[in-house]
Amino acid sequence: MEAQVIFDRLWAGYTSQNPHVRKVYEAFTAHGESVVNDHIAFRTFDDPRIGVDVLARPFLASGYVEKGEYVFESKHLFAKHYEHPSMKDAPRVFISQLVSRDFSPFLQQTVQALVNAIPEGLLQSPELIYSGRQWGSLSYQVYQKLREESEYAAWLYVWGFCANHFTVSVNHLQKLSSLEQVNSFLKDHGFTLNDSGGEIKGTPAELLEQSSTMAGRQLISFVEGDYEVPACYYEFARRYPDTDGKLYSGFIAKSADKIFESTDNK
Ligand code: NI
Repeated sequence: MEAQVIFDRLWAGYTSQNPHVRKVYEAFTAHGESVVNDHIAFRTFDDPRIGVDVLARPFLASGYVEKGEYVFESKHLFAKHYEHPSMKDAPRVFISQLVSRDFSPFLQQTVQALVNAIPEGLLQSPELIYSGRQWGSLSYQVYQKLREESEYAAWLYVWGFCANHFTVSVNHLQKLSSLEQVNSFLKDHGFTLNDSGGEIKGTPAELLEQSSTMAGRQLISFVEGDYEVPACYYEFARRYPDTDGKLYSGFIAKSADKIFESTDNK
């Protein structure tokens, strides 16, 4: 399948589930900007039935190739990123997975039960990446218990398979040329930024600067009742040229660590 078809479908799901993302996008376009994506990101568990390599399949089938591997020690995550060698302005695809062996037997057993509940046919299907939560009703008690160990696990328990975030390429913007300008623009329009570790993660010397909105909160039905929980966020990235003169294309584990906190339930 053509990569653009995949991204259009992911974007439709992402913006319908996250109204603030559409508003940010519309603020950019009203400002005369055309938005190009730097990358899109997914989250998953490290069970081999749904791990990074499984979620990557539809992208590999549409011409993407593996480019980099990352370890996020404090968040207990492993990730890979993928690029399309020939499609113009193709976003990078970033897929992370929770390293479950680093967590309690409760978390590990919960993950296994969730994956066991996914229909067998879906595990083999390119539809998996759009399929959201596939484990039936949610328990708020389980959600809270997962949160105590990993906000990432709790987020994944509620939302399942979908784009966790899209990322605007600041390099492609015409008028807002720095991340500082982008952040001011967003705040002037009333959006809340993730300021964990400062609004801007990374430095020009590290060749990548990123910022993000805080995830919007959505009312979710749990078996115990309805509770508001964080959904998805929107990210902004500015890349700098490496010594070879080409824009750096990878990711910085130290910076992304704080970006992951955009979905913390505060
Ligand atoms: Ni990102």
